[in-house]
Amino acid sequence: MPKQIPAHIAVIMDGNGRWAKKRGLPPIAGHKKGADALKETVKACAEIGVKHLTVYAFSTENWGRPKEEVGFLMDLFMQTMEKEVEELNRNNVRLRFLGRLGQFSEKLQAKMKESMEKLQNNTGLNLNVMVNYGGRAEIVDALQELLNSPHLNVGNISESDISNHLYTAGIPDPDLLIRTANEMRISNFLLWQLAYAEIYVTPVFWPDFGKPQLLEAITDFNKRERRFGLRK
Ligand code: FPP
Repeated sequence: MPKQIPAHIAVIMDGNGRWAKKRGLPPIAGHKKGADALKETVKACAEIGVKHLTVYAFSTENWGRPKEEVGFLMDLFMQTMEKEVEELNRNNVRLRFLGRLGQFSEKLQAKMKESMEKLQNNTGLNLNVMVNYGGRAEIVDALQELLNSPHLNVGNISESDISNHLYTAGIPDPDLLIRTANEMRISNFLLWQLAYAEIYVTPVFWPDFGKPQLLEAITDFNKRERRFGLRK
């Protein structure tokens, strides 16, 4: 067991399509297996005492994928909530969907709201699922909200003013960002919040990610010297 468990882990769950392609399957087969990998990762995080887990499930750019794939992902979000909310509740997990939720169907939005409300008093792992999310869109939305706030002093905006209007307001910044499938990019994920995160990239495709891979990432994180711009 790694010595120090990061309080907040963010994950870019990449490689579902490649996992499927390698097996001669359509991308949706990878997403289906990706949902199982997420379930395993959530369970593992709850077990080892991670406080916050933030995952990138659907980006503002993902609407541009083939219609069947987008439709499948929407159905998968719906079914996963129907299937898993009870178990998340038993495990004391609090769930938040964060992003521009208004673009989803009324039915999906209602289900997200209902699931979040059901789990809102839980005190264990905080699971943040970023959907229709873009880091730049989030900063734009934060500024919009900030500029409309009655207490604003325009000449004196601070970093915490911006943090406090992001979708993640009140949640500490991630300590560790894990990206699967070997891509060395941030891809518009948590642009503000990742300022000082340690980045861990693994060649493992997301559907093959699970507790052993999570522990490996945390072990690597333990070797890093975090300086936050200081000289140590
Ligand atoms: C990236 O793989 C993955 C996505 C765009 C979707 C992530 C969704 C899941 C893991 C499904 C489960 C989520 C929930 C909340 C139930 P990719 O398709 O871009 O992979 P590729 O780059 O290999 O094509």
